[in-house]
Amino acid sequence: MTQPLTIVVCVLLSVVACVSCLNQEGLYLYQLKLSLDDPDSTLSSWNPRDATPCNWYGVTCAGDASNTSVTELDLSDTNIGGPFPTNILCRLPNLLSINFFNNSINQTLPLDIYLCRSLRHLDLSQNLLTGPLPATLPLLPNLRYLDLTGNNFSGPIPDSFGTFQNLQVLSLVSNLLEGRYNFDE
Ligand SMILES: *[C@@H]1O[C@H](CO)[C@@H](O)[C@H](O)[C@H]1NC(C)=O
Ligand SMILES: *[C@@H]1O[C@H](CO)[C@@H](O)[C@H](O)[C@H]1NC(C)=O
Ligand SMILES: *[C@@H]1O[C@H](CO)[C@@H](O)[C@H](O)[C@H]1NC(C)=O
Ligand SMILES: *[C@@H]1O[C@H](CO)[C@@H](O)[C@H](O)[C@H]1NC(C)=O
Repeated sequence: MTQPLTIVVCVLLSVVACVSCLNQEGLYLYQLKLSLDDPDSTLSSWNPRDATPCNWYGVTCAGDASNTSVTELDLSDTNIGGPFPTNILCRLPNLLSINFFNNSINQTLPLDIYLCRSLRHLDLSQNLLTGPLPATLPLLPNLRYLDLTGNNFSGPIPDSFGTFQNLQVLSLVSNLLEGRYNFDE
């Protein structure tokens, strides 16, 4: 009679143990998976029982075993959809590169994108983003590459776009923008 109970307890314990063995960055990325529409099941390798997210599809880590950290996220060409999750991604302190090229990321790009402090490379080209360009993007001190080609951003190009500190590549073509980019500011 006690055996089924024992099994239940063991299963519960192992679930609890495994949930707690995924590191904090993995827990954030798992939240990202839950927040995205993933019609092709690209994120099926994102298993919350792993200790780290470092072997998950599209995830690159750096550092040693005791201190491994997510540095790149490449989910280009995967058909994922939904809003851009700054509230999750900007919690990854060493995230240098986000590539969501050719997907269905929609709604507006939130102003709090500037909280992704480590970001050097942001490719959101060929998605379904709408609304204004976030005037806060130039607050990212290390941003070198910004590709927003082929969305539906609208309105003027913010004056702040004249103040990028380290930008080397910028593409805003194929949007619904007005005005011109002031390179001299
Ligand atoms: C952990 O690794 C990250 C990224 O590789 C690095 O920026 C950070 O300084 C490291 N932290 C420690 C305590 O070594
Ligand atoms: C966009 O991604 C889809 C798969 O989601 C792929 O079939 C298509 O070829 C990609 N288009 C480009 C321009 O890369
Ligand atoms: C954004 O994409 C998600 C997931 O594909 C969808 O459920 C939602 O309706 C879309 N929202 C808008 C405003 O297009
Ligand atoms: C983008 O703009 C085009 C042209 O105005 C429109 O046909 C299309 O439905 C818009 N798409 C989105 C996702 O807003």
